[in-house]
Amino acid sequence: MARAGTNVVVLLMMALAIWLFSSAVAAGQGKWFDRIYIIVFDKLKFNEAYGDPTFKKWAIRGRLLTNYTSVGYGAQSNYISMIAGRTHDIYNETSLNLAGFTLIDRLQPRFDAPVISWKAYLEDYEGVCNTADKIGKVRCDRTGISYVRAHNPFISFDSIRSRSERCKKIVPGTHLAEDASRNDVPEFNFYVPNNCHNGEGKKGSAGKHLEALMTTITDHAVSSSRTLVVVTFASLQGGQPGKVFTALIPLGEMRRSIPEGSLSETAFNHYSLLRTVEDNWDLETLKGKDVTAKNLFDDENSASM
Ligand SMILES: *[C@@H]1O[C@H](CO)[C@@H](O)[C@H](O)[C@H]1NC(C)=O
Ligand SMILES: *[C@@H]1O[C@H](CO)[C@@H](O)[C@H](O)[C@H]1NC(C)=O
Repeated sequence: MARAGTNVVVLLMMALAIWLFSSAVAAGQGKWFDRIYIIVFDKLKFNEAYGDPTFKKWAIRGRLLTNYTSVGYGAQSNYISMIAGRTHDIYNETSLNLAGFTLIDRLQPRFDAPVISWKAYLEDYEGVCNTADKIGKVRCDRTGISYVRAHNPFISFDSIRSRSERCKKIVPGTHLAEDASRNDVPEFNFYVPNNCHNGEGKKGSAGKHLEALMTTITDHAVSSSRTLVVVTFASLQGGQPGKVFTALIPLGEMRRSIPEGSLSETAFNHYSLLRTVEDNWDLETLKGKDVTAKNLFDDENSASM
């Protein structure tokens, strides 16, 4: 009798182990990709970006979206919209503390371990939940200080800033190369170059920087199966919503689903990108503009260049 009881316990433990293992494997498996890097530049016009040999080269490796627009006025509202599904009626670059849901409530619904691992990498940010408006002694051409909080949407949300298990995932940009070299890059990555590298600085500097980032990412992505890099621009100089350069760059096995040299004229915007992440991992929407947005794979107008 005691022995039969032991066998039942062993069987139950085996079943539990199998269940734990299979759910761990399933967690990061997305519909289209298992890992995404969203690299957010700023301020260049579509033609300025496409006229840069590096941006053009990487666009040709995947799909150029020729009808993708920013959604808010100024830069900050666009960064916010990309993770919140709404602009929160922001019209300036002043630091704000915002209530409301973001994508992080879906990726990491409770405050402990995330369902989908994530990090926000911001160049010249110092980590440890720093809430400063500006950081960095490096002066870049037009804007002066190299890190500005207006380009870090994560720190502005109470639900992230006030919870250390979330806040600690906002890290300096240099951590990307370190994480990549340890083969420990999260599934969802949001990367923001500083003001010297993001398109606001010297002509050509954004392109050079993209090349360096892609080198870091592709060195790592060799070992990962389906990786998508999205290169986009938060906003345009002058701050009106309008057409911004956006490209989908597939790596690894993802290259089977996005042919080289394709382009799409479908009307997309930053909400479409958010919706793509939600749909990829079957996450609930944020009940904002993401509800009606099409995901970037829901695309009847893609063709070869
Ligand atoms: C910036 O916008 C916020 C609302 O989004 C407003 O409360 C604040 O007064 C504005 N600041 C300036 C300097 O215009
Ligand atoms: C972009 O999409 C809009 C809305 O569907 C459409 O009216 C417009 O013609 C498209 N523009 C281009 C350049 O394809």
